[in-house]
Amino acid sequence: VEHRLEDYQSPAFAIDDVHLLFQLDPVATRVTSTLAMRRQRAEEPLQLNLENLVVESVALDGIELGESAWRIEDGRLIIEDVPERFTLRIRNRINPKENTALEGLYLSSGNFCTQCEAEGFRRITPFLDRPDVLATYTVRIEADKSAYPVLLSNGNLIEQGDLPDGQHYALWHDPWKKPCYLFALVAGDLQFIEDHYTTAGERDVTLRIYVEPHNIDRCEFAMQALKRAMRWDEERFGLSYDLDVFNIVAVDDFNMGAMENKSLNIFNSKYILARPETATDTDYEGIESVVAHEYFHNWTGNRVTCRDWFQLTLKEGLTVFRDQEFTADMLLPSIKRIQDVIHLRRYQFPEDAGPMAHPIQPKSYIKMDNFYTMTVYEKGAEVVRIYQTLLGREGFRKGMDLYFQRHDGQAVTVDDFRQAMADANGVDLSSMRAWYDQPGTPHVKVRRHYDADSQRLTLDLTQSLPKVGEGFTPLPIPIRLGLLDASGNPLPLVVGGEELGMEYVHLFDTRHQQLVLEQVPEGAVPALLRDFSAPVILETDLDDAEWALLAAHDPDDFLRWDALNTLALKALMEAVTAIERGEAPAWPQTYLDAVGVRLQAALEDPAWHALALTLPDEVTLGEQFETIAVEAIHQARKALQSELAQRFEVQWASIYDTLSAELDQPYTFNAEQYGKRSLRTLALHYLVQTGKAKWIEQALYHYQHANNMTDRFGALRALTGVEHAARKTALDDFYYRFRNDPLVIDKWFALQAGSDHPHTLEHVRMLTRHPDFTYTNPNRVRSLLGVFGQNRAAFHRADGSGYVFLADEILKVDKLNPQIAARLLSPFTQWRRFDTARQALMKAQLERILQVPSLSSNSYEIVEKSLTLS
Ligand code: ARG
Ligand code: ZN
Repeated sequence: VEHRLEDYQSPAFAIDDVHLLFQLDPVATRVTSTLAMRRQRAEEPLQLNLENLVVESVALDGIELGESAWRIEDGRLIIEDVPERFTLRIRNRINPKENTALEGLYLSSGNFCTQCEAEGFRRITPFLDRPDVLATYTVRIEADKSAYPVLLSNGNLIEQGDLPDGQHYALWHDPWKKPCYLFALVAGDLQFIEDHYTTAGERDVTLRIYVEPHNIDRCEFAMQALKRAMRWDEERFGLSYDLDVFNIVAVDDFNMGAMENKSLNIFNSKYILARPETATDTDYEGIESVVAHEYFHNWTGNRVTCRDWFQLTLKEGLTVFRDQEFTADMLLPSIKRIQDVIHLRRYQFPEDAGPMAHPIQPKSYIKMDNFYTMTVYEKGAEVVRIYQTLLGREGFRKGMDLYFQRHDGQAVTVDDFRQAMADANGVDLSSMRAWYDQPGTPHVKVRRHYDADSQRLTLDLTQSLPKVGEGFTPLPIPIRLGLLDASGNPLPLVVGGEELGMEYVHLFDTRHQQLVLEQVPEGAVPALLRDFSAPVILETDLDDAEWALLAAHDPDDFLRWDALNTLALKALMEAVTAIERGEAPAWPQTYLDAVGVRLQAALEDPAWHALALTLPDEVTLGEQFETIAVEAIHQARKALQSELAQRFEVQWASIYDTLSAELDQPYTFNAEQYGKRSLRTLALHYLVQTGKAKWIEQALYHYQHANNMTDRFGALRALTGVEHAARKTALDDFYYRFRNDPLVIDKWFALQAGSDHPHTLEHVRMLTRHPDFTYTNPNRVRSLLGVFGQNRAAFHRADGSGYVFLADEILKVDKLNPQIAARLLSPFTQWRRFDTARQALMKAQLERILQVPSLSSNSYEIVEKSLTLS
């Protein structure tokens, strides 16, 4: 069944109050649900959603209903005759142990936990499983006391005590009305760390993080991150926490990153557990941002929630934007923005160009789980950022204040958000609607005309939306711009006789526009799209020398990075073309010189230079071409890597040595060390790329003597790319050292699956038979199969063996966990982008998958759309 935005109807019934009784048992949990309900529309039968559960009895206002008074049809429990107001009591049974889909109530490491977003609550008990039904919840949990000493749900603990036969119970009450997707329950043998936070309004909040006992020494960083997030949200947005307890639980088996259930966040343990010896800087950064993200949802998602799932970006785009801003403040604003843009171009742009492209507000879906996408999340965050760019930080804050003032306690739409932004600032933002309605990445083409006599530089701007075509609605695109003179000094901007300062935001909101800059001296270079002020593809007529000028002198950290990145991309694109013609690549001197300049200055800002000196990845490079030439792209990138390695070996070695001396201190996750470690690891990578034995030995030494995971894993990664005995030595050592640590073993799997070793497919095939591989743990599956699918050289082997292998594996996963299987399909969705031989091979696998009679609707939706849409 396809769900469509235009079909939205408000619910025919309200549920005001929910009482749930859970009698927990791994294979036969009994749920008793008592619902205080109210009719909102005449003459409609009551229809509750349900899935994978056995209804045992139904009672209306205390009277047991006979089997003829209710029926189950198409995933609904239907009761024809109900009064205006009534209490419904349903008893049902579920089997958490068999629940490998990890939606609803399931077991992870023997502990009970839940995941209800988007539509998992209906697997717990029959309900109006939609976000615009808001109720208060009281939850009583009964379970064996020795196996499940900890019993948690949303809100406040009201009561707990012992029961006969070694059982005990806990009673929780959440005073805040919420949709059922925010319900949570946890029961297990867990330990916690505790801390406190005092809100601006003097509320003392008890903070706890619950984990399995052996992980208790890895929670402190997450706890501190939570407190930083709580403080930041008060300072930046005036938003304080609203209950006396905030609990986080980390579980090993989890489909996504984490979940913002009211006062009981449940996390993939990957985003909580960290010690320097087991977690990298990237892991620490991920933890800080996901902890903040889930906490921020308490206002953007929970207090104000979504009317329906088409509004998902209302809470996700906004909350991602908020966590980005938080991380920028905690870490380094300059590098956070660059990281986010790299991520957007690498993952969101291809999605937006392929068959699964959808507006940030999708118009239809078969399985909502398939729409928790890069587009809804990351492009959604970019669109929220546009409001801030247009309104300024203060204006944006005013809009947020009005949004909460108007909509606290409601389930609303993206239009309500836009209206609050507009009304709070007295502006018309209706043209922003175009960003919500249309799929695809906009292109902005800039052509320059300079008139020396009048000193005018005319920028000819054209926007297009290839995914939509000619009939697209123009988008309001803010272009943050500046101007540099021929020596790289900033110049003031003059438009229409008016001085606009050294930088301003031009709103480009029609198909075509001319922007005339006045008093522009000869040779001046415009700096366009500073801070990546809109999620667009910019096509300019700047030449290499002009890009190099921007790379060297623009005051904007993002644009300087982007300029160098553009030079690298251009060099790589030429190399790809050369390789395809059977020629050796020639590297443009302008680019090599620009790299040389950066290397001289690298130690002044290690974090930024680590990003600037990393070459564009193969996927982003492939996006520059109509047809993705797998081998040529791979070869071109390798060739440039070894060119930079050999040409600048002395510089890399000096950077490596200097930083090694400076990093001689215990590990702390902070911006300074982070930057130094990143640059040093990059230097090591390049040194290993020289192919010289001494550098491979150095990498092995670096691996063996590292006192933290960032350095150890960085060295290991450098080694897995080489054919040398050190590769196996290090990989084996890593496995034995960390064999009891699942999150680290995930890295071991991922490294091999992502390696550009020529035998990666064989390695991955063998690893599916490794005793530590399992199809039931999403992290493990993603580490091996997810990473393999992203490995251009290995997955796209010309003989198609990578395709057959992954398709077989996806079908195994699909039987257990459809959500994860559907995600693993994503590399197949890009099939039209490759050469005709590969297209045929990929398409054949998609068609084979589609033929499987028991295929999940999650996978069906992806495969079917991939085959029919382009
Ligand atoms: N709301 C969660 C978050 O962004 C993610 C939930 C994902 N659920 C799903 N069915 N895919 O933090
Ligand atoms: Zn979220």
